[in-house]
Amino acid sequence: MTYGHFHDQSKEYRITRPDLPMKWTNYVGGLSFGGFLDHTGGAQVCMEDPAVGRITKYIPQMPDSDLKGFGIYIKDANGRLISPFQVPCGHPLDHFTCRVGLGYSIWETTYKELDFTIRAFVPKGSSVLLYDMTITNGGEDQTLDVYPVVEYSHFEALKQLTNADWVPQTMGTRAVTSPIGKKTGSHTPTRSHRGPGEEGSTSDQQEVYTTLFQQAWMQRQSHANYLTSNRPALSFETDRQRFLGDHRGGTWQKPLGLLEETLSNQESLRGNSVGVVQHRLVVKKGRPERIIFQVGRLEAGDIHSPEIQDQVDYFRQEAHVDQAFDRLLDQWDSHLSPLQVQTPSASLDSMVNVHNPRQCWITFNWSRYLSLNQLGYGARGLGVRDTAQDTMGIVVQQPQAAKEKIMELWTMQRTDGSSYHQYNPKTLEATEGDAREMPDRPQYYGDDHLWPILATASLIRETGHLDLLGEEVSFYHEPDHRGHREVFTVLEHIRRALAFTHDQVGADGLPLLGFADWNDPVNLPTGAQSVMLAGLYGKALLEAIELAKAAGEVDLANLWTGWHGEMKETVNSVAWDGQWYIRYIDADGTRLGSQSNPDSQLYINAQSWLIMAGFVAEDRSDLALAAIEEHMATDWGIKLSYPSFNGFDPSKGGITTYPPGAKENGGIFLHANPWVMIAETLQGASDRAMDYYDRINPVARNGQIEKFESPPYVYPQNILGDEHPQHGLARNAWLTGTASWCYQAAVQHILGLHPEIEGLRLQPVLPEHWPGYTCTRVFRGTTFHINVTNQTGQAYSLGQVGFDVTVDGLTQEDNLLTGFDGQDHDVTVTIKNRVSL
Ligand code: NOJ
Repeated sequence: MTYGHFHDQSKEYRITRPDLPMKWTNYVGGLSFGGFLDHTGGAQVCMEDPAVGRITKYIPQMPDSDLKGFGIYIKDANGRLISPFQVPCGHPLDHFTCRVGLGYSIWETTYKELDFTIRAFVPKGSSVLLYDMTITNGGEDQTLDVYPVVEYSHFEALKQLTNADWVPQTMGTRAVTSPIGKKTGSHTPTRSHRGPGEEGSTSDQQEVYTTLFQQAWMQRQSHANYLTSNRPALSFETDRQRFLGDHRGGTWQKPLGLLEETLSNQESLRGNSVGVVQHRLVVKKGRPERIIFQVGRLEAGDIHSPEIQDQVDYFRQEAHVDQAFDRLLDQWDSHLSPLQVQTPSASLDSMVNVHNPRQCWITFNWSRYLSLNQLGYGARGLGVRDTAQDTMGIVVQQPQAAKEKIMELWTMQRTDGSSYHQYNPKTLEATEGDAREMPDRPQYYGDDHLWPILATASLIRETGHLDLLGEEVSFYHEPDHRGHREVFTVLEHIRRALAFTHDQVGADGLPLLGFADWNDPVNLPTGAQSVMLAGLYGKALLEAIELAKAAGEVDLANLWTGWHGEMKETVNSVAWDGQWYIRYIDADGTRLGSQSNPDSQLYINAQSWLIMAGFVAEDRSDLALAAIEEHMATDWGIKLSYPSFNGFDPSKGGITTYPPGAKENGGIFLHANPWVMIAETLQGASDRAMDYYDRINPVARNGQIEKFESPPYVYPQNILGDEHPQHGLARNAWLTGTASWCYQAAVQHILGLHPEIEGLRLQPVLPEHWPGYTCTRVFRGTTFHINVTNQTGQAYSLGQVGFDVTVDGLTQEDNLLTGFDGQDHDVTVTIKNRVSL
């Protein structure tokens, strides 16, 4: 069953039915101001930190048919009430399209003779969400009342969730009107409110713009949320109870306030804050009427000040709105331009060219802060592990942003080389994360400090800027005796991170787990060891060795090469289980992820990471990857472990709180799938890597939404595994490390555009049936138009083929592009079987 389609030309996904099995969302703006919109008009908006900068009240667990944060009502002269988004009125629309674009959503809907187009976006650098609406009437001229509605949240999101008596006692809204037609800034604000029970109407007054400023009392001198428009306002409402009349049976579907000729025009000093503004438009046949709503937030010491009015006035002008939208489109075009591919797989093209880099950027910006599933209520902030990996997904498009974030991540490192787990990006305060819940356990995660090494290497491989290693950055809160922070080079941070894992090994010589490794909910008693960590450490060593060699740090390169060899020997002597590698050794010496266990006998991360670390000889990698294929690879993706735990077992941790097949307990945890794809390209069959890519490509699920439920234009975090009755059901779209790793797997490992310190290595690992592909890749300021031809005629692994490369017709010595002159170059790559070379 389909609910929409991809529209490649506009880089949009177009939802054509409002009755999706769940809300599908899109992001607007950024963490400084923005949030997500759902496909029926709901808006979750916040400023800076969703935990303490919440603006709209969007509570995902409440019924999908309710208004969530924002909505629009239209009332015709006969009192007929409709919503152009369908929600919350709920009446069926004659036509529904929600165009999910890059940084914007556009609705095109029809109800009888009325067509609505609503374009919603946050202009770059602004703190306002614009709803630019056009109504076209195909029937007789009619008068419509148009009401934008915002429901506000207390700025502290958790307080709003409790809504204890004192919360609504602190919320209020003031109205400011300004006569239309006066020069900006020279208006005389007049208060148009009246007290409870007072009669009156604004219709006989001069036409005014109305701006509703909603504030928590304690922020009256500092911040205000606002709702306004570029059309005269007839009346307004600020209180939810007055608007809905819910004590008298009113609902979001049919607010009783809308049955009146005008709204109450009352400000509020307490209550559940809403902003509603009534506009009366005469919509003539064939004469479109445009009206622009603003939902914003201002630093507002004095809401009557001309400066504030100027700010609010700016986007009342249609030309400013159009310019801002064009700028947004340009910004996204340039974001996507460093890499565009044309391959035989339309679904891969769709992801690699548009939807995957978009998701990488959104995830990088929003981390795990705010989505339908990540609720942004607590102090979680950014995860060091997550953000380091997210950064690796944006180095191609946004190396400067990546650099800033990587430097920030290094400031979360302790002097002993380990890292804090989470931090607030605004205050830069760090915490130990969930480890704090078990103070008797290690207060560090075994992996956090290693990911920034991968991120640093990934950035340097992209930019070639090796001098980053010499840049200085502080450790976390380590004042020296003069009260200043000690600063060390990035290289020293890397050295300490590697040394920490080198030194923190358990009884068998494997890295100690700490509170957990990447697999968060496996929390084993102190002393447990992790095989995945051995792989991550090995991979980090490989990267660091390359960096050290290029930087002339021969001693370090030799030291780390020795460490790599030691760990390789250890994993192969203690972690091999006959058919695959085990995953953990528990504190009491029990081997977990072994055929001898009753459950969770096999984990994919032990296999993929040891292969990526270069620890595994071919005979073992063949067996381990075959085991994954046999036991773990479902049609919907590869499961994280097999078979699942079936019952709560506190000795294993949170993983056993899930039923079999869900999340980390035997679910398809998509983040770990690309690691298997990469391992396959390094050691195994090219066909299998692509097959695994296809299995989790959401684009391919467009026709199976009744099962998948999640949007086909983004990777979800998890899909229920085959031990669960709802196998195939996906959840937690958008904010997942899957985005970064799928992009890396597809671009660097399958398409084979692999940045190295010296240049761009071209080593595609293409499926048998692909004759080749073409792409444009901007690398270090130079644009390469690359044409790849696959002459192998069979599935292959890297060792079996060679690559003939020409640049502007000249044959190259090898498959490494070097020499970056800022010009355009034509490159050909021919993949040949070694025997035919
Ligand atoms: C989601 C967490 O954000 C991430 O840090 C963790 O690695 C995965 N879950 C797997 O447990």
